[in-house]
Parts: sequence; C-alpha cells; structure tokens
Amino acid sequence: MHKAFPRRVRWATFSHSAAFLTSGRDLMTRAIALHDVGKRYGRGPRAVDRFTLSVDPGEFLVLLGPSGCGKSTVLRMIAGLEDITEGELLLDGEPAGHIPPRERDMAMVFQNFALYPSMTSRENIGFPLRLEDPRADRNPRVEATARMLGIEDLLDRFPGQLSGGERQRVAMGRAISRRPSAFLMDEPLSNLDAKLRGHLRAEIARLTAELGVTTVYVTHDQAEAMSLGDRVAVMRGGVLQQVGAPRDTYALPANVFVAAFIGTPRINLLQAVVHAPLDGPMTLDLGRQRIRLPEPLSPDHQLLRIQQGRRLVLGLRSEAVRIAPPSQARPGEAPLTGTVEHMEYQGHEALVHFATGSRPAPVGELEAARPASPVRRRAAGPGTLARLRSRAAGRLVGPLAVLDAPEAPGADERPATAPGDLVVRTGPDVRLRRGAQVPLLVDVAHLYVFDHHGRRVCPAPAELPGFDV
Ligand SMILES: Nc1ncnc2c1ncn2[C@@H]1O[C@H](COP(=O)(O)OP(=O)(O)OP(=O)(O)O)[C@@H](O)[C@H]1O
Ligand SMILES: [Mg+2]
Repeated sequence: MHKAFPRRVRWATFSHSAAFLTSGRDLMTRAIALHDVGKRYGRGPRAVDRFTLSVDPGEFLVLLGPSGCGKSTVLRMIAGLEDITEGELLLDGEPAGHIPPRERDMAMVFQNFALYPSMTSRENIGFPLRLEDPRADRNPRVEATARMLGIEDLLDRFPGQLSGGERQRVAMGRAISRRPSAFLMDEPLSNLDAKLRGHLRAEIARLTAELGVTTVYVTHDQAEAMSLGDRVAVMRGGVLQQVGAPRDTYALPANVFVAAFIGTPRINLLQAVVHAPLDGPMTLDLGRQRIRLPEPLSPDHQLLRIQQGRRLVLGLRSEAVRIAPPSQARPGEAPLTGTVEHMEYQGHEALVHFATGSRPAPVGELEAARPASPVRRRAAGPGTLARLRSRAAGRLVGPLAVLDAPEAPGADERPATAPGDLVVRTGPDVRLRRGAQVPLLVDVAHLYVFDHHGRRVCPAPAELPGFDV
C-alpha cells in the first residue's frame, strides 16, 4: 500500500473560508476503490479493462492518458453516471455500484461547465444548497465559497457577463459549496488559455489541499498531472499502465509508453544491443557508437547480461546527457560523440539535437495511444510471441515485433533519417555551430532499457528479486 497523504489534512492552515465550508459537520472524505473493473459500451471493445485502483481519503489522484483511453469512463463509473460491466466499485470499503449518483455525495466538474444562464453567479453557486435545504440562508456559504475562489465581485453577474476562466470558477464554486465528500473533475481547465490554466491549476491545488477532500482529476496534459497529483495513474487503451507519485512515473516509468508520455522534451528512445563479453566491459551498442557501462557494474546493469544480443530500446532523458569532454567525466559517466544538427532556444534553456549514428527505436506501436491488437490482454506467453513472430515475418508490422531477434543493428540497415537522434538539454547561452562534433557524457545511472514488449528491464522493476548473474 502507498503511504498516507498528510498534506491534504492540514487543519491548522485552513483559511477562514475553507474552515467555514468544512465546519458544522465532520469532514467526510471518501476512499474510492475499483477492483478489476471493466466497461463495454454496447457490443464494442472494452473502453476500460481490468482496472484496479484505490484512492485514499483526502488524496488527489490524477487519471492521465491520451484521448480515448477511458479516463472519463472511469470517472463516470465512480460518479454512477455509467454502469460497470465487470468488477466492483467500493466507496469507503462498501460495494457501491448500486448507489444512485445523487446519493454518492460527489461533485463533478466537467470540461464544458454548464451554468444556468438565467441565474447570477450567486444563484448558480447556491443552487445545490437549495436542493439540500430550501429554507436555509445560503448567502454565508455562497460568499465563503466566492472568497475562496476570488470571485466575490462577480456574484451578481450572469454567466454571459463572465470570461471563460471566471465561469469556470463559478462552476467550481457550485461544486464546492455543498461540501461534497469527493470531487470528480474531468479536464476542467482544458478550454482555457495557457496562462489562465496555469493560474487555476495552482488554485485547484490550494483549494483541494485546504478542503482535504478526495479528488479524482482527469487530464491528458502530463504537465498538469505532474504538478497537481499526489499520485498519477497513467492509462492507455483502457488499461492502467502505472500508478505512482509524479516523480516515480517520471523517474521509473514502467514501460515505453509511460516513458514517452511523461516528460518534455520526449525521452530519447534509441535502438540498442547489450554486449557482455566475458573478458571485457559490458557495452550498449547503438550502431556506430557504444556506451561502455562503468565497472564495477551496478546490480541493475548486471541484470542486463540476460538481455545480451537482443535488440532493446534505450531510453535517455535529455538531462541525462551533458556536453563535456571525456577528461571531465565523473564516476558513472560514459562518453559519446554527437554532431550538432540544430538547436532549439527555449529562453531558460536550449535543446540541442545531435546525430550520434544511433537509430531512433521504432516504438510507434508501443507508444501509440492504443495497442494495435488485443495482444495486450495476455501476458507475454508463448502464444503472444508466436503471433509477434508471424507478424514480424511480413516485416510491415508493429516495429518492435522483431526486437526479440538476436541481431545487432548492422551496417546493412539504413542509417537514421531523423534530423537528430539525441536531444540534450543545456544552458541557454551555449553556442554551437551546426555540424560541429561535440563530446558528450552520458550519466549511466539514468539510462533506461526496455525489452521488446516495451517493459522496463533496467532499472529492474522493484518486484524482481535480485539474483546474481
Ligand atoms: N457513450 C459511449 N458509447 C460508445 N462508446 C463510448 C461512449 N463513451 C465513450 N466511448 C468510447 O470509450 C472509449 C473511452 O472513452 P472516454 O471518453 O472514457 O475516453 P477519454 O480518455 O476520456 O478521452 P478524451 O481525453 O478524449 O476525453 C473511447 O474509445 C470512446 O469512443
Ligand atoms: Mg474524456
């Protein structure tokens, strides 16, 4: 189990308005769990498949993934707006699939926030309270909510007199005012411009931390997910790929898909073959150059021995490589040479695209929003391998289908046609001439190796027992 999330329940730091909103009752915040949940719309394929996830009370969990991967479907099943085809939903440990949406005490905020156009902001925010108790004075609660959101001045305006961001705040206010025990937010910021999105993102983080209410937040924007979530659950084609703290999904991606989906610029993914001669250093062969793994080998690098001869995918984040001569190598750095292709100036940094003679790994299928075939439903058993091999025979297939063939990227294959195969992050003031040969140092502690199924094999997954090779 993951640890508790203390930052969500900081009672002492509650602002006046948040304290008001949560007073008068015990703060109920929900534990939400999905067990092996599947969802089919009609006779179509599963939009969500064997989905298992627990959200702790007070936790801020982000569902992240490309369009169509099933994020909204998961959220709508939690809200009770969609039936669950298979598996079970538990709220506070109790089966909840049969509970009508209204009785789940959750507030949903949608991308296309619908406010009642003929009601002022005050009436919109107060509307859910009217349903709770028609005779109660709603104004104190509405005003406390508005204070929290910084929209006190807008309470007497109609939606048509508000900007998009202001309308979204009113919609948030409507969700917050009735003190739900969970928030379900479906891309609530995606209709807004970048600046406002950044601003409201910070607001949402502050607000949910103050209220301490369990929140499930859907987005396809990895930066938003990383900055908001206590944990991020990455989905692809209806299947949960990885769930973990933002730092873990970035630093220890479970597979090629997660590695490529999270992080800007995209991680460099190169074809590589492990060479582990008995009488020499272990190397990762990139075609024209090799990365020599420093000795003594780390336990993770030792495990790479069993991948020897297989074609693999090497993942290198742009910050795992720096421009410096071999004489300046620190322990754990290995030299490479790159030819400058072009530079992207970013203001606070620059991205240099190098040609190193490596081939970008043909990971199209592993990186695609949805796997090309139902292969994903099975473990990598013999049936899967046989199918991959037979598809590979045509050589027109999912490019990684051939990766288990024990062959090196040989000289007979076409050289990379991409303008650069390695993007390196550097300071903004570095000046490099196009075509210059530049020495590089790779931090080998921060390289990833993925197998032909796209699964990370280095660093080894935590559940893999350590053994001597
Ligand atoms: N009412 C529906 N009837 C049939 N298929 C549906 C329905 N709603 C969603 N789907 C399908 O289920 C899959 C998942 O859809 P969902 O809306 O959950 O994706 P999403 O991850 O929220 O995507 P987006 O980021 O574009 O909002 C998609 O293939 C979609 O076409
Ligand atoms: Mg959606």
